[in-house]
Amino acid sequence: MRYGFFISGEFSELGFLEVENLLASYSENFRVLYEDGRILIVESNALENEFFSRLAMTRESFVHLKTVELNDLEAAFKELDFGDKRICVRVKRIKRESKPKSPEIRSPELERKLGASLWRRGAKIDLKSPDVIVKVYISGKCHIGILNHVTDTKQFWERRPDRKPFFRPGALLPRLARALVNSTGIKDGLLLDPMCGTGTILIEAGLMGINFCGIEAFPKVAYGCAANLRHYSLALNLLLGDVRRLSFVDSSFDAVVTDYPYLRSSRSFGELEELYEKSIFEIGRVLKPGKKAVLVSNRDLEDFLDGFGLEAKLIQRVHKNLYRRIYLIKKSNG
Ligand SMILES: C[S@@+](CC[C@H](N)C(=O)[O-])C[C@H]1O[C@@H](n2cnc3c(N)ncnc32)[C@H](O)[C@@H]1O
Repeated sequence: MRYGFFISGEFSELGFLEVENLLASYSENFRVLYEDGRILIVESNALENEFFSRLAMTRESFVHLKTVELNDLEAAFKELDFGDKRICVRVKRIKRESKPKSPEIRSPELERKLGASLWRRGAKIDLKSPDVIVKVYISGKCHIGILNHVTDTKQFWERRPDRKPFFRPGALLPRLARALVNSTGIKDGLLLDPMCGTGTILIEAGLMGINFCGIEAFPKVAYGCAANLRHYSLALNLLLGDVRRLSFVDSSFDAVVTDYPYLRSSRSFGELEELYEKSIFEIGRVLKPGKKAVLVSNRDLEDFLDGFGLEAKLIQRVHKNLYRRIYLIKKSNG
């Protein structure tokens, strides 16, 4: 099978990282065929629905049919056959910052033209309740596919930090937190957030059916986190503790995702420098060999990553003076 992903423009680098790392757990072997702006095309065995419904930074996924140049689009449509299914054609033009402007394309006009070309060959067109939505994503090239899944983005808005029973200003946004969890590739097993704050990472993991454990140093925050977990009917797998001295035996966890205190916005339990050094050592100790961690911080962490391979580093501008570093690291096997 070939699948396509239309990645959200909000933080597309993380979108690509999320899809590719989660695919590694859901697909026996997959291969990236094409990256074109915010479109990713892969070859894989058939994927279960659970995979698509977990994705946060993908807007839509589709079963890929063809990739062609704009000039060849109408000819490509002449070769498509959907039997007696009711069809609707939708065109999405994706803006590309770094590329020269593509010729002006009016999506509704093109949809009508392509739909008419199918209709002339006997296809049933039904815009209200189609069996199949044929999508054309126009980026550098035109990617034609059958719409497979649309991400429910409303859920992230409903779970935003200020709508939870316990709120702290430094809380992560749920869509970002979910993409970070998925970037570790965890499918089954146990995830740890050793500085869990209000519990955003734990909640996103829990709602995807992943077992989790949270650690928080400050009792007031830990109680608040428990209230948030309870609000989503999730297990209160939460301990009061210190990331610098984790009370777990070695190799206990299948993934770690955590967000460090920011200098100005959240308190740290102990000196920051020592916090980084000791916590990353502890994360390496409790993580199983070959498994991945995501560390989010407002400073560079390269000096502390002994024993890990660096898989990716992304930088996100939060506001004028705050740049978030996102490290995806893998514990070495030996
Ligand atoms: C940036 S916040 C985490 C925010 C969290 N991701 C959320 O969405 O609410 C960092 C958290 O680490 C906690 N913390 C600071 N030092 C710690 C330590 N030594 N051990 C465990 N937690 C600690 C802070 O109390 C704070 O809640």
